[in-house]
Amino acid sequence: MIELHRAETFAGGIPHGLFASMRADPGLTWTPDHAGTTGFWSVGRHRDLVTVSRDTETYSSAVGHIQIYDIDADALDARASMIDLDPPVHTRLRRLVSSAFTPKHVELYRQAVRDRVRSCLDQLEAAGGGDWVSTVAAPIPIGVICDIMGVPEDDHQYMIELSDHLVAGTANEPLEPTAYGNTTELRLLPFNSPAAFAMAAYASELADRRRQDPRDDLITRLINAEVEGESLNRDEFANFFRLMIFAGNETTRSSMAHLALHMVQFEEAFERVRSDRSLLPTVADEVVRYSSPILYFRRTVSQPTVLSGTELAEGDKVVMWYASANFDENVFDDPLMFQPERSSVPTHVAFGGGGAHFCLGASLARLEVAELIEEMLDRGLHLTEVGEPTFVESNFVNGIEHLDVNVRRDRSRKEQQ
Ligand code: HEM
Repeated sequence: MIELHRAETFAGGIPHGLFASMRADPGLTWTPDHAGTTGFWSVGRHRDLVTVSRDTETYSSAVGHIQIYDIDADALDARASMIDLDPPVHTRLRRLVSSAFTPKHVELYRQAVRDRVRSCLDQLEAAGGGDWVSTVAAPIPIGVICDIMGVPEDDHQYMIELSDHLVAGTANEPLEPTAYGNTTELRLLPFNSPAAFAMAAYASELADRRRQDPRDDLITRLINAEVEGESLNRDEFANFFRLMIFAGNETTRSSMAHLALHMVQFEEAFERVRSDRSLLPTVADEVVRYSSPILYFRRTVSQPTVLSGTELAEGDKVVMWYASANFDENVFDDPLMFQPERSSVPTHVAFGGGGAHFCLGASLARLEVAELIEEMLDRGLHLTEVGEPTFVESNFVNGIEHLDVNVRRDRSRKEQQ
């Protein structure tokens, strides 16, 4: 049995061999009921994943759950945010924030991103190195998404802590139910994590502050927003807030953490980018493809269908393994090769396989990763003595917890400064 429901399968990063054999098998791959999960179908090929992702009528995000394990109907209701809903409700919610994340609009955030990148790299350089994750990869994306939302700087570290605690809910061990003063049953909380309770409490308190003191931020926009003539209620607002913080932070952080490994492992590729900066957009996408920060999302079949010759019944769980489709040898030439010049067509699926739920923050994430790479190259910063990464224990995110690095500047560049 292929144990894709277990965090251990991902303990050393993406299991490329296992995914390659899954892609080579005809049809979809079945994992039977095991260890508390009911059986599910795995989609590993790029073509099949795109089909599932774009057909929200057959493959629902609202029915069942978007993670492998099942949850009760009341738990689904309690946590519903746009990512767990289907059109047309999904579309109405997404419209509340989508204009803040268009490629054109995110250009307005570029200078703020650059300032954050510079300040983090200054700290790393001053110390001669340290933990790449806590010094660079974690603070940049949380800082950026918190600025956009309107979360004060003093609370950014708390948001990182809560976001980490959410991910901890995807490991195999149950979490302490009363952490953060939680009083809600764990089964009703996203990722079964008390941090979801704490984030909701924080969101509610911040919303109250913004009602008194409105600002030009997304929190203020959301508390004043109306969907079909009604404002978001307390729970809807909290779910929205949680989604934005988690999605805007955890994923980009993971790509930035993996970037450090890529820069060492594929040094020559980055040398090519150093001399040809027109490669910056494509190299950023290659980092995201290669790191595939979200390993999967699940859909539930809402009407009988056939995919790749496999018959699917209503209620079947279908899991889209982005981390497999991004290395599909029928789509990507030499997929394990890191290629900054890789064409953007066909596109990787790290941001989703297209359709209604395609990542809202894709342009922002690309900009953040490209800014970090460009600043590293401008400074001639080399990562030396990169330690062994400690991977996050999860079958859902491909995260890195710690990564010790030493840094030094290219001497010729230093002299030019
Ligand atoms: C490298 C970074 C990122 C990766 C790999 C990533 C990945 C994904 C994926 C795979 C989905 C699709 C979910 C689905 O089909 O069910 C998604 C959706 C989403 N992402 Fe991202 N994401 C990243 C960065 C961001 C950022 C910076 C934001 C901040 C706004 C963000 C916000 C969202 C939201 C709100 C959704 C839900 C969209 C919807 O349901 O319509 N993401 N992301």
